[in-house]
Amino acid sequence: MEIVIADTPDAVAGIAADILAGYARKGATLGLATGSTPLKTYQELIRRHQAGELSFAHCHAYLLDEYVGLSREHEQSYYRTIRTELTDHIDIADENVHSPDGTTGNPMQAARDYDALIAASGGVDVQVLGIGTDGHIGFNEPGSSLSSRTRLKTLHPQTVTDNARFFGGDEDAVPFHVITQGLGTIMEAGHLLMIVTGAAKAEAVAAFVEGPVAAICPASILQFHQRATVIVDQDAAAQLQHSEYYRYALDHKPEGQDF
Ligand code: PGA
Repeated sequence: MEIVIADTPDAVAGIAADILAGYARKGATLGLATGSTPLKTYQELIRRHQAGELSFAHCHAYLLDEYVGLSREHEQSYYRTIRTELTDHIDIADENVHSPDGTTGNPMQAARDYDALIAASGGVDVQVLGIGTDGHIGFNEPGSSLSSRTRLKTLHPQTVTDNARFFGGDEDAVPFHVITQGLGTIMEAGHLLMIVTGAAKAEAVAAFVEGPVAAICPASILQFHQRATVIVDQDAAAQLQHSEYYRYALDHKPEGQDF
């Protein structure tokens, strides 16, 4: 993994946007995440697009996950959220923005169909990831199989608590079933781009970067990916034991070395 420690959340967003812009210019398939963390990155991509610097016209996008039981037009469905926060404001074709269908009577089949759709598309080139305070990526909660495929999952009570803020603070309004890309599915993306900001995530960052690879900390599977970039701000990096080395290694990166 390459660990990039940036000074501020704005700096994190700038670095992440630079990486994503490189893929957008190639008309790549983008793996998108919802949640609050990537918002600044998406705002920076929108800014560059509106300034005429960046086009997504040849891109396709696949979302990580979706709530089960919310209509697509529900403002907290991820189908709607990614449009509100990013794709309605750039020139990607709406029909090229894909997400698991949480509205069918058979979410298990919908999950399998989504996994197959991603594979048939040729796969995701770069996948944006956030991390939950419980170490989840997508909605792969603690205990998720490290080789899981896209499937139906039950949210951890911690995630329900964390996400209640999006539902007016009402935990009972948060759906407890979701469809999420599996850890095995996510690992097939060509490049994983994890973005983390804020002190609330410092423990989770230390656990997945420097702890053992274990299903109890699903994000730790990134240690097995050949190309994972982890961009954190100072607060999220606060519990890393080797932060000085990560800075040093970045400053002394050999020409042409990726990871
Ligand atoms: P957040 O969520 O970006 O809203 O903190 C991240 C996640 O739960 O994966």
